[in-house]
Amino acid sequence: MTFDKLKPQIEDILQNESKDVATRLTEVCVVLETNIPYFDWVGFYFRNGNKEELKLKAFAGEPTDHEIIPFGRGICGQVAVSNKNFVVPDVKAQNNYIACSIHVKAEIVIPLFVNGENIGQIDIDSHTEDPFSHEDELFLEWINENVSKIL
Ligand code: SME
Repeated sequence: MTFDKLKPQIEDILQNESKDVATRLTEVCVVLETNIPYFDWVGFYFRNGNKEELKLKAFAGEPTDHEIIPFGRGICGQVAVSNKNFVVPDVKAQNNYIACSIHVKAEIVIPLFVNGENIGQIDIDSHTEDPFSHEDELFLEWINENVSKIL
């Protein structure tokens, strides 16, 4: 199973203290985007200081115009306030959605907690319709738990 094969690689990247956190997170994004066929854009957003907004810290895939996202806006902004996983099988069915590319059909956003506080999230865009399962949620939660240990 791909996720189990990727876990040791992701642990090695995150534990490499010779690189800064943003570099390690970018490497994680690249590993995910490269190895999982339906992961077409992968990014980590974090709360921007004390502002009610998210800021993009690391990503793999096409550059996005949406480096800053206000809390409450789009799928990402909704997760910043709900503290809950948000799985979107069909982005066309969402009215509070920020389009990054016309190719995106589905999205998953998983919040990232440090000491119980929602401080960021991992965001995946897919060009495949309805590609995400409960296994994806568990895998991305595992990644976020490991990221939280290096912040
Ligand atoms: N689609 C997201 C915006 C971020 S991009 O996917 C990179 C949203 O609705 O929050």
